[in-house]
Amino acid sequence: MSPTLVRLIYLGAAVLFITGLKQLQSPETARQGNRISAIGMLVAIIVTLLDQHIVGYGTIAAGMVVGSALGLWLAYTVKMTSMPQMVALLNGFGGGASLLVAIAEFLHARHDGVMQPVDVAISTHLGVLIGAVTLTGSLIAWAKLQEVMSGKPIVFPMQKTFNGTMLVVVLVLTGWLATSGTAPDGAFWAIVTISLVLGVTLVIPIGGADMPVVISLLNSYSGIAGAMTGFIIQNEVLVVSGALVGSSGIILSQMMCKAMNRSLANVLFGAFGAAAGKSTRTSAGLAVKETNVEEAALQLAYAQSVIVVPGYGLAVAQAQHQVRELTELVEKRGGTVKFAIHPVAGRMPGHMNVLLAEANVPYDKLVDMDDINPEFERTDVCLVIGANDVVNPAARTDPSSPIFGMPILNADLAKRCIVMKRGMSAGFAGIENELFYGDRTQMLFGDAKGTLTKLVAEVKQV
Ligand code: TAP
Repeated sequence: MSPTLVRLIYLGAAVLFITGLKQLQSPETARQGNRISAIGMLVAIIVTLLDQHIVGYGTIAAGMVVGSALGLWLAYTVKMTSMPQMVALLNGFGGGASLLVAIAEFLHARHDGVMQPVDVAISTHLGVLIGAVTLTGSLIAWAKLQEVMSGKPIVFPMQKTFNGTMLVVVLVLTGWLATSGTAPDGAFWAIVTISLVLGVTLVIPIGGADMPVVISLLNSYSGIAGAMTGFIIQNEVLVVSGALVGSSGIILSQMMCKAMNRSLANVLFGAFGAAAGKSTRTSAGLAVKETNVEEAALQLAYAQSVIVVPGYGLAVAQAQHQVRELTELVEKRGGTVKFAIHPVAGRMPGHMNVLLAEANVPYDKLVDMDDINPEFERTDVCLVIGANDVVNPAARTDPSSPIFGMPILNADLAKRCIVMKRGMSAGFAGIENELFYGDRTQMLFGDAKGTLTKLVAEVKQV
């Protein structure tokens, strides 16, 4: 194929990516956006396969068979609640792939005894840096989310100085390798090793409620690593798609930072999470008020206004259909129902939106945190289902709390608050929640699916 034709088709694929991404902005067009982007990717793959600069078709077919089989197996077996771990792993594999391409290109040039042009050399070493950090950082994120290792921040003395020094060493070695033909292979392998270590040391201090930021940031890194690879192998469509993933990942990270009340600068310099301490307040001596299904059903049936706060526990219980049924019953009786969506509720960005969309909860009933917060005070019943950290008033009132400053949903300000969860366990951040002991709060203990099923039956009787 002529290089001009290949480039033109790549350009077409890039336009499809951008159009698809734009359509992801709204739930109504999101499915179509996904399809358009997938078509763009298919076009890019076919053109790359037809282009002559590829290894044998046999190798590619073998890779596709193994990769597709693994992908299918993961898609069918991974639970919705384990998605963040899977996303972390996939980010890591993306970074790992970019790392391998960068290593191969370096070895290729050395084998041929040629010096890489400065721009390609810089792309190669930055590709190694970002790819390796993404690989090991994502593996640590996976281990934390999968609870293979402790989710608490792991810190050591002078951690930030260590990270900063390592980064400077990598940049100095990059400059040396890019400008001097006599720099030894050892300098390159030092970049690889330091970058792999940096991925670990940058992510281990992050823990608890800060994990959403690191996941979206690693997602962005995997895109940047892909774009670097595009520069190395001079493939425009890879540059464009990598840049799109990188920039949308950064935008998402910024949104997560806002939701967690962190600045992106803190995140980039690895300074967050390490500050997480322990609240000096304790629930010792406090008692919770318990309610039962019958009482809760009465309150819901006669409420004029209800706000449902969904959280991770709703996803674990897979009770989205039951909650939709319950809210329809309340509405039939003349009450209004809204769902309050916290940006980091659940375990991945948009988790609650996806969960509720699956049960056909109308999208206009989902209200973002900033818009719904002023409404809690005039709401009859707030029904918190499997949410914990995102409704913890300590974020507003307890300066010693590790989540102090994080914006939360003001469930404690509603006239009444019914909290559905199985027991008194803490949420992801591992901290106590004063809401459960509040004057207006009643605890409705049990698995969310079972309790909601009983509530539906009971409200029908009222
Ligand atoms: P969490 O604070 O994690 O609390 C979930 C609660 O659900 C737990 O306290 C648990 O209590 C309850 N639960 C679990 N299974 C249940 C079931 N079957 N039925 C009823 N309740 C059940 O959830 P959240 O309020 O959604 O907050 C999310 C947290 O995850 C935040 O700290 C956030 O930073 C973090 N995080 C978010 C993301 C993203 S991007 N969304 C990614 C990683 C981490 P019991 O065990 O007592 O039932």
